[in-house]
Amino acid sequence: MSESAKLSFKGQEFEFPVITGTENESAIDIAKLRSESGLITLDPGYKNTGATKSAITFLDGEEGILRYRGYRIEDLAEKSTFLEVSYLLIYGELPTQSEYENFSKEITHHTLVHEDIKKILEGFPSNAHPMGVLSSLICALTAFYPDSLNPNRNIEEVNLSIIRLIAKMPTFAAWAYKNEMGHPVNYPDNSLDYCSNFLKMMFALPAEKYDVDPVVSSALDKLLILHADHEQNCSTSTVRIVGSSQASIYASISAGINALWGPLHGGANQSVIEMLEAIKADGGDAKKYLDKAKDKNDPFRLMGFGHRVYKNFDPRAKIIKKAADDVLEKLGVNDPILEIAKELEFAALNDQYFIDRQLYPNVDFYSGIIYRALGIPTDMFTVMFALGRLPGWIAQWKEMRENNEPIGRPRQVYTGANERDYVSMNRR
Ligand code: CMC
Repeated sequence: MSESAKLSFKGQEFEFPVITGTENESAIDIAKLRSESGLITLDPGYKNTGATKSAITFLDGEEGILRYRGYRIEDLAEKSTFLEVSYLLIYGELPTQSEYENFSKEITHHTLVHEDIKKILEGFPSNAHPMGVLSSLICALTAFYPDSLNPNRNIEEVNLSIIRLIAKMPTFAAWAYKNEMGHPVNYPDNSLDYCSNFLKMMFALPAEKYDVDPVVSSALDKLLILHADHEQNCSTSTVRIVGSSQASIYASISAGINALWGPLHGGANQSVIEMLEAIKADGGDAKKYLDKAKDKNDPFRLMGFGHRVYKNFDPRAKIIKKAADDVLEKLGVNDPILEIAKELEFAALNDQYFIDRQLYPNVDFYSGIIYRALGIPTDMFTVMFALGRLPGWIAQWKEMRENNEPIGRPRQVYTGANERDYVSMNRR
């Protein structure tokens, strides 16, 4: 017999079906709550609200489990490549050899962007944050590919938009950086793999020879895999909700980039490094900052700590911590910030405030340290996160469209003034 949940309100009883996912997570289906009882639910921050059924990513915050399409993140990070993981997320299965080759070839073929996009780029001041530049350029693709404005067109056209997004995002990301530096942009080099091409566009200078370091390229590939999807977070839900109005995929992804930007979401990786720098400049006293984070009168939070769903540990942080040690050793980088990070982590993990609230290092606590070691400047960290999260956003947008999900439109509990008469200005 299927399960149900009962709600009693004002002497009446209402019954709602309980649905169970493939990993035995249960949810009360309240689709008929308002029409039957007149009630809505109130859940600020959607902490208990499932907005969709999804077959892409499974996450168990208590057990520290993360799987893409059923595959463990630990296995994917160790054995796969970012493009293979992108294919898996978007199309649902790991690609065969020939599917993988075709997919990579298609992406490589579309890395170049229209020359007029360079003019848009040149219009940005050099101090523009690269996240704002990136989201603008991605949204500008709607103008260059107007067919994408109708997401109901045939599957081939949608697929072409998907390929273009994955292909052009590294070009835009590298160009946003070049604009910031006041350097000429580098065009894609299609003889290179995805990450090596990005690194060359970022770092090659016209007057110098540049060879991509394979250690750097493979570390970057791993970081992108770890960021590739994370079910219904702030930016992903944004992508789905914008897409639910049938806005184009480029507009939806651009909105996701903006949602990711904030320091409580993807912007945390930049904030972590700025925080560690500040601690170093202030004499390296980790305890002082731990106390600030605990002080409810101080808005300071320990950046890179805490997570909406991970209440035990963040499995990505475990992999990244080890990767940070490996990369720093291989590249011979001795970063004093890493020592402060370790000290802070140790102190926080042994502090009752953090223990009581189940606050553990999240993915961003260590990713910034690796990015620094790879030579990526601090304000590009969140751009790197966006580059990694792109296939997840695409997969979630595609799933939302394929499921014919209705337009997203939450309700509210109104707490403002009751009806009142207008009083003209000279009588107020
Ligand atoms: N430092 C100090 N106290 C904290 C922190 C922190 N980093 N995070 C949460 N708390 C406290 C918070 O003050 C609250 O305390 P109390 O119960 O006494 O009021 C309690 O822990 C619960 O916090 P919350 O804000 O209700 O938790 P949330 O689930 O709404 O927020 C979070 C999750 C990630 C926004 C939050 O932990 C945070 O601001 N962390 C720092 C920013 C950060 O690292 N963000 C990256 C998240 S991982 C990357 C991604 O996937 O986006």
